[in-house]
Amino acid sequence: MSTTIVGWGKAVPKNVRSNAEIASMVDTTDEWIFSRTGIRERRIATEGETTFTLGRDAAERALTRARISAADVDMVIVATLTPEMPMPATASLIQDAIGASRAGAFDLNAACAGFAYGMEVARAFIDSGGARTVLLVGSETMSRVIDWTDRSTCVLFGDGAGAVVMQHVDHGGVRASSLGSDGSGSHLLQIAGGGSRTPVSKQTIADRLHFLAMDGREVYKFAVNATVSSAATAMARAGWSPEELDLFIPHQANVRIIKAAARRLHLGTDRVFVNAHRYGNTSSASIPIALCEALEQGRVSPGNRLVLVGFGAGLSWAAVALEWTMTVPTAAE
Ligand code: ACO
Repeated sequence: MSTTIVGWGKAVPKNVRSNAEIASMVDTTDEWIFSRTGIRERRIATEGETTFTLGRDAAERALTRARISAADVDMVIVATLTPEMPMPATASLIQDAIGASRAGAFDLNAACAGFAYGMEVARAFIDSGGARTVLLVGSETMSRVIDWTDRSTCVLFGDGAGAVVMQHVDHGGVRASSLGSDGSGSHLLQIAGGGSRTPVSKQTIADRLHFLAMDGREVYKFAVNATVSSAATAMARAGWSPEELDLFIPHQANVRIIKAAARRLHLGTDRVFVNAHRYGNTSSASIPIALCEALEQGRVSPGNRLVLVGFGAGLSWAAVALEWTMTVPTAAE
């Protein structure tokens, strides 16, 4: 008995911001950004595009792909660190907009590990009998919490959303997971203002505390280690050896992080999915967007063994070992 993905969809803003455009805003170059991160461009939400609208569009596409009516959804979970507003939950807005009239709804914040955490929460709901159909969305508008005058962070992030529909399956599906957190590193990556500790004030705004701040070097080291150890643990729990893995889909924070982790896991580039060059780091949206694109590119077939790994602020991390069960229609279907 397990849980599997029966539908998937993504929604990204049309507006592309290239490295050259960022180089006209802050003191950086395309060469610096590409050599340090592998990122060439990212999508940036325009006015009217928000975490809610992108998440809703991805959710509707996932339900269409699954051929499931919104009325049959039992639970809507939105993984995000850039919610539509502090309250209500973005999940409630999406639940209403898509007509999931029977569903419960809540947001989940595990930063860039949020989507992988959400898969495990969905599995727990379904395995326990608490829900038959879970709609899991990862949606972010990172551009709204980025300091566009800070060259050390503004080059890294982008906006977008991805969604999956999850249901029970007799064979295959989620085989194992590995979730973790180390809050002693919370200061390494945070948006310090606007919460209970430091409510919004003229001073917090003057101090730019409403923007994301990061110690890039420390987060880099953590990211490589967390990706390797959580992926290895999830594979060991699933009873898989790294040679048996068909596709590794890591959080798309930085191509250097992905390559360093893949090397340590002895995975060649043919078994690693990368699209960070086109989207940058879309936080909890990055894994479902990457999964959708891997499916669109025909890189996943039934029976394939996948490992999805998220990591980020918290610090937190999550890896899911997933045996793919669905036939993927070709582009013509
Ligand atoms: N353009 C040009 N120079 C820059 C830029 C830029 N955009 N940004 C920083 N620099 C400079 C720095 O000022 C520094 O100059 P100095 O040596 O004179 O002080 C120099 O480049 C080197 O800076 P480093 O920070 O050491 O550069 P590094 O090689 O570590 O790369 C990077 C920085 C890309 C941020 C890297 O540390 C990284 O990827 N870290 C992990 C980030 C990450 O994945 N975060 C997301 C986690 S997910 C989540 O939860 C949101």
